[in-house]
Amino acid sequence: MQIRGTGLRLRVANALHIPGFIPWLRPAGAHRYYVGPAEYYDLVAAGQFNLLTMLGLREDHTLLDVGCGSLRAGRLFITYLLPGRYHGIEPNRWLVQVGLRKEVGRSMRRLKRPNFSYDDGFTLTTFGHQFDFIVAQSIFTHAAAGQIGRCLSESKRVMHAESLFLATFLEGDENYAGSDWSYPDGVYYTRPFMFSLVSEAGLIARPLSWQQAGGQTWIAIAQPEAEERLATLDQQLRAHVLDDS
Ligand SMILES: C[S@@+](CC[C@H](N)C(=O)[O-])C[C@H]1O[C@@H](n2cnc3c(N)ncnc32)[C@H](O)[C@@H]1O
Repeated sequence: MQIRGTGLRLRVANALHIPGFIPWLRPAGAHRYYVGPAEYYDLVAAGQFNLLTMLGLREDHTLLDVGCGSLRAGRLFITYLLPGRYHGIEPNRWLVQVGLRKEVGRSMRRLKRPNFSYDDGFTLTTFGHQFDFIVAQSIFTHAAAGQIGRCLSESKRVMHAESLFLATFLEGDENYAGSDWSYPDGVYYTRPFMFSLVSEAGLIARPLSWQQAGGQTWIAIAQPEAEERLATLDQQLRAHVLDDS
């Protein structure tokens, strides 16, 4: 974005990352393109919703959306789930607030009573109960290994024997060695390294062949006692896709 007369060049995305960014300076639609390409806002939401419902998400389940942003997928989950079952963690409070106002609406919010935490330290235990499903779309994609480790060890504490945690990451040949969140640029990890972080947290993981994440890899994470279920998960997904075609 060029600010006329000042010669000052700002990348819109970076400008939006300034903590406490002045609300009235935020361009219309900023809540959408802050979380990714605005033209795919609907599809990335649908990809998450379809994946979780194909893997068994039902309306009476509890869901935790880690880094829920402007409720891209949240608006679909909130509508689908019974009251009080949707939980979102998001340090950028403005994203949730604009998402609630522009994507969800007051009456749906009142009807479904979604829960939010604005914690920035991956404190998944903050809600004080366990979840049937956890989703983290494009979160490990920007997180340092230490943050991923923290998110996984917290998730271990809020997952029961049947819980499923679905997450995406950018698969590469090397591991991001930084210790900070990287945004909007993504960071890469090898698959063995990502899986080693999962097992360090006392959990197990399997890759999924679900493609809808803009070149990212989806993995399913579970408690060790769910090993058998995890092994057949991808098959279950493929069967659904074939049934629907
Ligand atoms: C690429 S966006 C994805 C948002 C959402 N998952 C979606 O699919 O629309 C990444 C999100 O992670 C959030 N985020 C940044 N730091 C975080 C942290 N420490 N814990 C949780 N979320 C964080 C950002 O504010 C942003 O909303």
